[in-house]
Amino acid sequence: MKVFGIETSCDDTGVAIVNDQHTILSQALYTQREEHAQFQGVVPEIAARAHLNRLPDLCDKVLADAGLTLNDIDAFAATAGPGLIGGVMVGLVTGKTFAAMTGKPFIGINHLEAHILTPRLTFPELTFPFLVLLVSGGHTQIILAKAYRDYTLLGATRDDAAGEAFDKTAKLMGLGYPGGPALEVLARDVPDGAKAAADLGLPIPMLNAPHCDFSFSGLKTAMRNRMVKHGAATLPPAFAAQLASGLQYCIAQSLADRVRVALQHPECRKLNGIVVVGGVAANQTIRSALEDVATAHGTQLYAPPMSLCTDNGVMIAWAGVEAMRHGLIDTLDLAARPRWPVSELRRAV
Ligand code: KG4
Ligand code: ZN
Repeated sequence: MKVFGIETSCDDTGVAIVNDQHTILSQALYTQREEHAQFQGVVPEIAARAHLNRLPDLCDKVLADAGLTLNDIDAFAATAGPGLIGGVMVGLVTGKTFAAMTGKPFIGINHLEAHILTPRLTFPELTFPFLVLLVSGGHTQIILAKAYRDYTLLGATRDDAAGEAFDKTAKLMGLGYPGGPALEVLARDVPDGAKAAADLGLPIPMLNAPHCDFSFSGLKTAMRNRMVKHGAATLPPAFAAQLASGLQYCIAQSLADRVRVALQHPECRKLNGIVVVGGVAANQTIRSALEDVATAHGTQLYAPPMSLCTDNGVMIAWAGVEAMRHGLIDTLDLAARPRWPVSELRRAV
């Protein structure tokens, strides 16, 4: 079974063809860096137009690369939400059109569920239940994935997402968007993140709090205050590296601590793994902090390859494969949803 997937919910235009044997037959991605660079954040209207411009060529490319035509595809999957509504509609209408043209099934995918399911593409041995830390530019959530379409939200951010904490701080430091990758590179010059954080007096948000929620706005403010106190218009490179290293350490420790608390949930006793997904999962310091937590709990950390951590078409195609396996297809009047918590998916089974 071959599923064609389309992702357009934020600033990545992603298309892929994946089969039910866990093979990625082809994939193409366009990341809208230049379009949004001068705004240092994603502009929804510009994103939607860029998806519209790029999608046709990307669709042609994945078909050509896989040596297939539209008629060889068994189902068409597209992100139906949550996300920026203009972009979501572009991908959704494209997927529906292909389905209507070929008479094949259409599946509207929840973008968050696609992130949750991605490790099952790359690690076929990963079975439910597993704990998911979803950390991206728009979301920071801990989800208990008990079974397919049975997801319980254990905790979420009360203000900024982890990726936003990286992006907003990077903006203050003049590093451009997205900030996470640039901050990770900068932080390499100051390997002792704990010392950098202690020297700067940065807090580890929510440390030891008896719930699984996150908060990053206080850390962001602390970062801004350190920069203001320093006074210089441009930060000296050594100080910038110390800031990056301290921030990365505090975010990594906060995420690890929240996962540690989530693992005390009675239903987390028999887990088959801990999964980290979303763009921030590309960060090596964060991965290794989470590996320590998983090892202490006697379980394993599953992190998909970096190219599958950030938004892409492969994850949508794979979520389509999983839906098809359960016989879950949608009608062509399915609406795009700007908000769509994963806990609401349960009713759909
Ligand atoms: O999942 P994703 O591609 O989509 C959005 O939610 O937009 O995540 C993007 C986020 C951005 O905030 C970016 O700064 C962050 O992931 N990110 C990173 C790294 N790579 C991407 N954060 C920290 N370290 C990284 N290496
Ligand atoms: Zn995402």
